[in-house]
Amino acid sequence: MKRVFSGVQPTGNLHIGNYLGALKQFVDLQNDNECIYCVVDMHSITVPQDPKELKKHTLDIAALYMAVGLDPKKSIIFAQSMVPGHAELNWVLTCNSYTGELSRMTQYKQKSKGEESAPTGLFMYPVLMAADILLYDTDIVPVGNDQKQHIELARDLATRVNNKYGKTFVVPEGKFMKAGARVMAMDDPTSKMSKSAPNEMSRISLLDEPSKIKKAIMRATTDSEGIVRFDIENKPGVSNLLSIYSAFSGKTIEQLEKDYEGQGYGALKKDLVEVTVDALAPIKANFNEIRESQELIDIMKDGAERANAIATPVMNRVKERFGLGL
Ligand code: TYM
Repeated sequence: MKRVFSGVQPTGNLHIGNYLGALKQFVDLQNDNECIYCVVDMHSITVPQDPKELKKHTLDIAALYMAVGLDPKKSIIFAQSMVPGHAELNWVLTCNSYTGELSRMTQYKQKSKGEESAPTGLFMYPVLMAADILLYDTDIVPVGNDQKQHIELARDLATRVNNKYGKTFVVPEGKFMKAGARVMAMDDPTSKMSKSAPNEMSRISLLDEPSKIKKAIMRATTDSEGIVRFDIENKPGVSNLLSIYSAFSGKTIEQLEKDYEGQGYGALKKDLVEVTVDALAPIKANFNEIRESQELIDIMKDGAERANAIATPVMNRVKERFGLGL
């Protein structure tokens, strides 16, 4: 059995990019692997958060994990701040990372662009992410494409420590979906769909009403060619719709191109609305029930205990290798 770890930030509602790039993989992996899924609340405070909202969002994400199909009997579900090893290992890895490699992280460069002085937490973000992963002797990390560079850093840090202090960490592998690894914004298919874009129509959130889903898809940016064909470079909008359709329906892109031969974008969009609304309806129904239940807190407390039991011996090994403590 392989060990799987991944995390999601508790900032706002999740969108179909988060689902198709990451959460769908979480569910697929839970039957044949030992899976640990974290709500990374400490990552969220790299930018200011309202404390009440942060707690609420942490529970929202845990409930969404279960609403998409994670079973707390199979997968460990908890919040990052509930297991102290994340912060402890973060420091050890910080002392083995370089400002040069962290300055090259594209997500940091984008987020700090135009700022005279960026928050240190934003700069150190990828090291905390490496700590999350390495703390559990993780083999596999299911994520969207935007996390590729961060996974590479985690691998580099693990290898660096192993070479210097003797075998300490498992070197993890990233796992990416074929369709869905990079869902683009509906209004601008050259940018990634994101939780924070100002235009609500740029994304489809997992809890959106069918009318909002319809609006966002029917208004999605395409092109003037009128031929349903997958070509990311020249037809990013249509290609994005085809990827989303393929990821939700399980049909291949080639099959979809055939199905819509001779038809315009209207037919494709109309059917994609139906496929998306149908896929999200059960998630929404499950979410409301789980979020209201008292059990949610108990599940997270139990998850934190189970996670801590895995993390503690790893952290003890790290301390031993580094000569920390007695
Ligand atoms: P976050 O919270 O931004 O996103 C959660 C997951 O969703 C994926 N994702 C996407 N996939 C496809 N298309 C998109 N448009 C899209 N937008 C987001 C992300 O790749 C991610 O898998 N740094 C991470 C959280 C994290 C983590 C970790 C992940 C912290 N520690 C350890 C794995 C392992 C993040 O900010 O994800």
